[in-house]
Amino acid sequence: MQSDSMSEWRDSAPYWGKHAPTIRVMFAPVTRALIEDAGVREGQTVLDVAGGPGEPSLTIAEAVGPSGSVTCTDAVAEMVSAAGGEARRRGLSNVRFRRCEAGRLPFDADSFDAAVCRFGAMFFPDPSEALRDMLRVTRPGGAVSLAVWHRSDLNPYSYTISRVTSRFVETPPAEPGAPGAFRFAEPGVLARLLEEAGAADVRERLLKFHIEAPITPAEFWAMRSETSGTLREKLTGLSAEERVEVAQEVAESVREFFPNDRMSFPAQVIIVTGKKPI
Ligand SMILES: C[S@@+](CC[C@H](N)C(=O)[O-])C[C@H]1O[C@@H](n2cnc3c(N)ncnc32)[C@H](O)[C@@H]1O
Repeated sequence: MQSDSMSEWRDSAPYWGKHAPTIRVMFAPVTRALIEDAGVREGQTVLDVAGGPGEPSLTIAEAVGPSGSVTCTDAVAEMVSAAGGEARRRGLSNVRFRRCEAGRLPFDADSFDAAVCRFGAMFFPDPSEALRDMLRVTRPGGAVSLAVWHRSDLNPYSYTISRVTSRFVETPPAEPGAPGAFRFAEPGVLARLLEEAGAADVRERLLKFHIEAPITPAEFWAMRSETSGTLREKLTGLSAEERVEVAQEVAESVREFFPNDRMSFPAQVIIVTGKKPI
């Protein structure tokens, strides 16, 4: 991983830990989709790559139960220790933790019944290498399932903020294929990579759901402006007055997505699943 993006994630880690309970609720439908598409069942051993402060690992640990286990990995040590703290808090003893980078997984071939990755693949410096490695450590017939964002313009969770910040900070369009949240936003792109990495029966589906949590627009802005390294960097270049203006304009632009002061954004995520050939 390039060291600047690594340090961005390291700087983000305390905020991801702080907002982990909200993030877990917000993306529970994505976790459920991964569990379903990867065919995760009680008693299985599952690998989570780029698990951040613990999801989907910890929810999957509940799904596989005490006879199964989950290995939660992330490139950033602070993310992994936040995940460990959350597992202890929830009394989960069937989760192991390992700091490691996607593409350099320190596990033997065929170690897991399934491997999952929620909102991680788009940030890997070499996604093809990461997919090949996820397939390597999965047993023959086991599934590799990944969740990535569909296009930003279909996700008000993203565009309500970027449309405001782009008026304050010049934002050049992302280079095609460069690491970033919307790198795999076009249907078919990640599925093709997974197929090229050697997966069989590759399928892709569009998950439409609502990102919901009992938070106010101000709490939403606090979470987004803290957890996103890109956003933090943009805000650093603004004056204190401009930052207040951005916060006010975001609060205005998200209002319709907070009926009764509770967040509910319609969202679209792509779920890609393939099997390790037998
Ligand atoms: C958007 S967060 C997703 C975290 C979590 N899976 C979730 O859905 O809440 C992306 C995560 O990818 C991790 N990451 C970025 N590059 C990585 C790499 N090359 N290998 C492993 N993890 C990486 C970051 O440290 C961060 O925790």
